[in-house]
Amino acid sequence: MKKIGVATTGGDAPGMNAAIRAIVRLAASRNLEVVGFQRGWQGLMENESRLLTPRSVGGILQLGGTILHTARSPEFTTKKGIRKAVQTLSSNRIDGFVVIGGNGSFSGALDLSRATDTLIVGVPATIDNDVYGTDETIGFDTAVNTAVSEIDKIRDTAISHERTFIVEVMGRTRGFLALTAGLTAGAEIIIVPEIKSKRENIFQTLKENSRKGKKSSIIVKAEGAGDAGLLAKEIEGRTGAEVRISVLGYAQRGGSPTARSRLLASLFGSKTVELLTDGQGNRIVGLQNGQVSTLSLEKSCKTEKPLDLSMLLLANVLAS
Ligand code: F6P
Repeated sequence: MKKIGVATTGGDAPGMNAAIRAIVRLAASRNLEVVGFQRGWQGLMENESRLLTPRSVGGILQLGGTILHTARSPEFTTKKGIRKAVQTLSSNRIDGFVVIGGNGSFSGALDLSRATDTLIVGVPATIDNDVYGTDETIGFDTAVNTAVSEIDKIRDTAISHERTFIVEVMGRTRGFLALTAGLTAGAEIIIVPEIKSKRENIFQTLKENSRKGKKSSIIVKAEGAGDAGLLAKEIEGRTGAEVRISVLGYAQRGGSPTARSRLLASLFGSKTVELLTDGQGNRIVGLQNGQVSTLSLEKSCKTEKPLDLSMLLLANVLAS
């Protein structure tokens, strides 16, 4: 192992820079060279790279986003795209390639691993936390904290005006962010894409809360779990509550990573370099039961990470 390539792909997540820094600096301590590819798979296909040195990754630990930039690259899902990427890996003599991203990125990495001898390692970084093989992804904790601090503020208005708020958090297909933010912000109702919430149950809970003296409520809904506008109208019609919608949006993807996200990035980044120097590839690094561990890339891609439904039940009890 002499040269490692690294790219950040898919949606950005706070802590991606901390992971790049860890990879570059641990690699340097083992006399390995690291090159960074710009804009994820796009830069790999177009051979757009730059040398990353311990000094060039100075001052990025606390920065959100990714200094390597990122992109969603439909071309990479084609045979031609993969061929171009393989060509770049071989012309740059890359022995190990690290992809920092979410499960979409890892599917691309799996396709790439089947077409090249370069060792591929995935570092899970997404605010969605939907990667199988790690209890937590880089960036998730930051996004949860961003969402919770916004929901706390919205709670002030909800209480003052005796209103019901639907707060929409990110999560197109998965509800990890909605569930954790909802539980930790004391949301009265949490709606996730994985479970079809019965409208009647929502109306019942709100009416029951009102009978118990709760004059305001917060509903945390993942973006992929139905239309907020429609739900607001139905709630107004059925309960008489005054409903407002607040979409938290892309602010959840940005900002300085929390200590937790930086810690995971540092641990995952260094484990990645260890794997590569041991000659192991086609794996992802992750945290399982509190331990930094690894799993086959294929297994991670082909398995859906389960949502902890007991957390949803707990959230309901605690907010009652
Ligand atoms: O990064 C994950 C995520 O935030 C999803 O929750 C969301 O649906 C998606 O990215 C939207 O990202 P984009 O607009 O960049 O495609």
